[in-house]
This record gives sequence, structure tokens and C-alpha cells, in this order.
Amino acid sequence: QDTSYKKLIQLHEETADLFHHILLNTKAGEDALTYLENRGLTKELIATFKIGFAPRERNVLHQFAVAKEFEQDILLESGLFVQRDSGELLDRFYDRIMFPIRNQQGKTVAFSGRIFNQEQYPEAPKYLNSPETSIFNKRKVLFNLDLARASIRREKEVILFEGFMDVIASWQAGVQNGVASMGTSLTNEQIHMLSRLTNKVLISYDGDNAGIEATKRAIDILGTNPKFELSIVSLPDGLDPDDFIKKLGVDAYKELLAHGRDTLFSFKMRYFRKGKQLQNESERIAYIETILQELLTLSSAVERDVYLKQLAIEFDISVDTLKEQYQSLLANAK
Ligand code: CTP
Ligand code: MN
Ligand code: MN
Ligand code: MN
Ligand code: MN
Repeated sequence: QDTSYKKLIQLHEETADLFHHILLNTKAGEDALTYLENRGLTKELIATFKIGFAPRERNVLHQFAVAKEFEQDILLESGLFVQRDSGELLDRFYDRIMFPIRNQQGKTVAFSGRIFNQEQYPEAPKYLNSPETSIFNKRKVLFNLDLARASIRREKEVILFEGFMDVIASWQAGVQNGVASMGTSLTNEQIHMLSRLTNKVLISYDGDNAGIEATKRAIDILGTNPKFELSIVSLPDGLDPDDFIKKLGVDAYKELLAHGRDTLFSFKMRYFRKGKQLQNESERIAYIETILQELLTLSSAVERDVYLKQLAIEFDISVDTLKEQYQSLLANAK
């Protein structure tokens, strides 16, 4: 068990080095490198995250691993290969840009591979992740937690992103306390890992529908946990953090993170009005009642007052009427 753990880690570490080398120093890696450079990644950044390239032929890693005398059962256990009916092993990842996924100790335990020539593989998913293995449980991993730890402690806050590229672009912008869950909603294990470093969490998911839904889920999980202080930045126009930095620049991004935060409640207001036709009277009334219902969850009378006034102004209803309605909801809730 112990030796197989070491062997699996060693195989992953050597694989990361191999893919990184192929990306930077070989003809096979040229197009992938160009793609990354076009996305604004510097060589230094590529080195920091040890980004690599898995070539198109599906035998490069296999031959490398055999030459390094890794045993067949380790190869099978690693998740880095798929086995044909004939028994032959093929590299799982091919023609993809490779992001090593590190555990909390900084050891590579898995990979995520991004397609960059989608037109050649119309059916393939954009990102392909390693399967679960004895060294990789995706519920227990947060991408970049090992590198972000120092900055999380310093800033006393962690930023949650959706994607690898958001973590990486932010890192380049000097925002280095960012981590990403692996395309899944936050797990209890991940929350526990975070709670040991900080109690402040900033959610910075994509500004598209999926990101807004994911933010709502994260709020439902974390916002009810008294251990955490949550804030949210809502990105405009469907942008993700990486897009935002590219489009509006580092300064605007830092400004957004520092001063562009939503409270949980204003996020919820935005969330509940998504897709609603508020010029339509019945939808408007339903929306206002939903918000009043949500106000019941606020413990601060001051905050409640702020939102009641906001609602009153926005929908041109008297504050007294809203308060009356709120009081009756409150009475019903008891
Ligand atoms: N993801 C995944 N499999 C997919 C799509 C997404 O595992 N087929 C995960 C990846 O971890 C990805 C994250 O979900 O980073 C967010 O998805 P998305 O916003 O679509 O990707 P980006 O991170 O924006 O990637 P890129 O900028 O490279 O398009
Ligand atoms: Mn997304
Ligand atoms: Mn995205
Ligand atoms: Mn995208
Ligand atoms: Mn993106």
C-alpha cells in the first residue's frame, strides 16, 4: 500500500515533468504553447503551474513509464491509461494541454487536460479529468490550495473560482489566494480544508447562468455555516475572472475584488430576478414576496431596513406597506 502510494505519486510527478518538457521544448508542443501564449500565459506562469502538453500519439506516456520501469499494476491504478480489450495500454490524455492537480502537500495526484483544437474533436469534452484513484479523490482536492496557502493566511481570505484558468489568471494579476473546486459544487471535505486556514470566503464564479447557479449553491452550503463570513463578486456580462482580466485589465479586476462586492442578500435579489419579467404585475408581486420571505432569514434589523427601503424605491411602494407585509409573513413563519 505504502509503496504503491509512493509509486503513484512518483509516476504523476514524472508525468507532469514530461508533459511540461514536451510543451516547452518540442515541436509537438508548439501549437499548444502558442494557444497558451495567445491566452496571455507567460513562460514563468506556465512553469509555476507546470502546465504541459500530452501529445497526439497515445503511446508517449506509456513508453516513458515502461522505460522508467513502473509496473503494470501501478500504471493501471494511476488512471493515466486506458486498457484496450486486447490488454494494451493507451495514454488516457492525448492532444490536450495538461494541468497537474496537486494535493495539499503539493504532490501531483491527478491531471486535467484541456482541448485547444476543439474543431478536431467536436464531441470531446473541453476538460478531461483523471478518474478517482487511491491518491485522487476529487471531493478532497482544491486546485492550487498548496500554492495559495501562504496568501490565504496573509489576506485572511480565500477566493473560490470555478476554473483553473481563473486561478491562474488571477495569480498572474497578483491575486494569489485563489483556489478552484474541480467543476463540482463545494464539498464538506473542501469546506473543512478551508476552515483550517481562514473563515473568510469570497466567491468569484463565472458571470454566466451556470456560475450564478453555482454561486447560489455555494451560498446555500456556506452561508448557513456560522463559521464562515461570505462575500460575493458578481462578474458582469457572462465573463469569468480570466475573461474579465483580459478584457478590463488587472486594475479593474483588483478594484472589483476590493470594492465591487455584493452582500449575500443583494446577490439573492439579483438571483431571484433572473429571467423574470418584472414589468408584468403578477411576476413583480411574486418577486417582491420572495424577497420579503428571504428577509426573514436576516438577523440584522438594520440590514432588513436597508433592503426594505431599496425595494420600496425600486418598485415605488411605501415602506410602511412593505413592513406590514413583512410583519404578516413573520407572524406566519412563527
Ligand atoms: N469543467 C470540467 N469539464 C468540462 C467543463 C468544465 O471539468 N467539460 C470544469 C473545469 O475545472 C473548468 C471549470 O469546470 O475549469 C469551469 O468551466 P468553464 O467555465 O466552462 O471553463 P473555464 O474554466 O472558463 O475554461 P476556459 O477558460 O479554458 O474555457
Ligand atoms: Mn463556467
Ligand atoms: Mn469559466
Ligand atoms: Mn470559457
Ligand atoms: Mn474561462
